[in-house]
Amino acid sequence: MAISTKPAILVVRAIFPEVLAKLAQHFDVESNQADALWTPEQLQAKLQGKQGVFTMGAERIDAAVLAACPSLKICANMTVGYNNFDLAAMTAAGVLGTNAPDVLTETTADFGFALLMATARRIAEAEHFLRGGHWTRWSYDMFAGSEIHGSTLAILGMGRIGQGIARRGALGFGMKVIYHNRSRLDAATEADCKAAFVGKDELLQTADHLVLVLPYSAQTHHTISAAELAQMKPTATLINIARGGIVDDAALAAALRNKTIAAAGLDVFEGEPHVHPDLMTVPNVVLTPHIASATLGTRLAMAHLAADNLIGYLIHGQALTALNPLSVSQD
Ligand code: DGY
Repeated sequence: MAISTKPAILVVRAIFPEVLAKLAQHFDVESNQADALWTPEQLQAKLQGKQGVFTMGAERIDAAVLAACPSLKICANMTVGYNNFDLAAMTAAGVLGTNAPDVLTETTADFGFALLMATARRIAEAEHFLRGGHWTRWSYDMFAGSEIHGSTLAILGMGRIGQGIARRGALGFGMKVIYHNRSRLDAATEADCKAAFVGKDELLQTADHLVLVLPYSAQTHHTISAAELAQMKPTATLINIARGGIVDDAALAAALRNKTIAAAGLDVFEGEPHVHPDLMTVPNVVLTPHIASATLGTRLAMAHLAADNLIGYLIHGQALTALNPLSVSQD
C-alpha cells in the first residue's frame, strides 16, 4: 500500500465541495461533510496526526488543545473573528492562526444596515402581525418606527466593517455619523467615511442608532450592559453584528422590556446558538442566527481564503492572512 506524503489536515464542518476538492490536491483531508457537531474531546481525537485544521470560528484552540495535538502547525479560521483562538498559547506552541478578513467586509456591512433598517422600521414585528392574521385595518400610528435618514448613526468599533456601515449611512441616507474606537482613524479615512470621533459616553448619549462592530475579547466582554443602556436615548436602537458577549443579553432584554431603549437587532448572542429566553419574548427585537456574512459568494470567498492559508503555509511556507506570524518548520 502506497504511503501518502501529503500533510494531513482536518476540516471541522461541512464546506463547499469545490473547496474540499482544492484542499485534496495538496493534503490528506479528513472532512465532515455530514456536518456532525463534535465535542471538544472528539475534535481533539480527530486532530491527532493533523498538521492543519480548517476551523469555522467556534472551535476553541487553547493551550490544552495544543498540548494534546503536538503535530498541529496551523489553524485556519474561515471567519474574520478569531476569539476562538488563544493566540498567545498558539504562538508559544509554534502554531499559526489565520482568519478571513476583507472578503466579507461589504456583505457584512450590507447586513448590518439591513438589520438596522428592519429594527428601526419594525419590519419583523409588522410581518409577524400580518402573518398572524391581525391586520384588519390601517391606522395612523401602526408600527410607527424611528427615522433613519438624517438621524445620528453611532458606530462602536471602526474597523473595515464599521467603516463600510459609516459610508452607507453617510452617503446613502444622509446620516450624521459618529464613532468610537480604541484608536482614532487617520483624517483621510474619517473624511472618506464622513465620520467624527467622539468619546464612548457621547456616543451612547447621542446615538439614534448604535451599531456594534468591535471584536470580542476579555476586554470587550459586556461593553454594553445595564449602565451603558441607561445612558442611551429611550428612542434609540441597538444593533449587534459583532459577537455575543459584547452585550449583556439579560440586561438588554430588561432594557427592551422597560423601554429604556426602543428596539434592538441582534445577529449574535452570548452562548449562541442558545438565545437568552428573555430575548425570545420581547417584541421589540429582531433576532437572526449569525448570518451577517451569509451570501453564497462571500461564504465561498471566505472558505477559499481559509483553504489558501492552509495551502500557503503548509505547502509554500507563507500564509496570506496570518494573525501571529511564525516561520514554518519544514520538518
Ligand atoms: C466572522 O467572520 O467572524 C463572522 O462573524 C462569521 O460570519
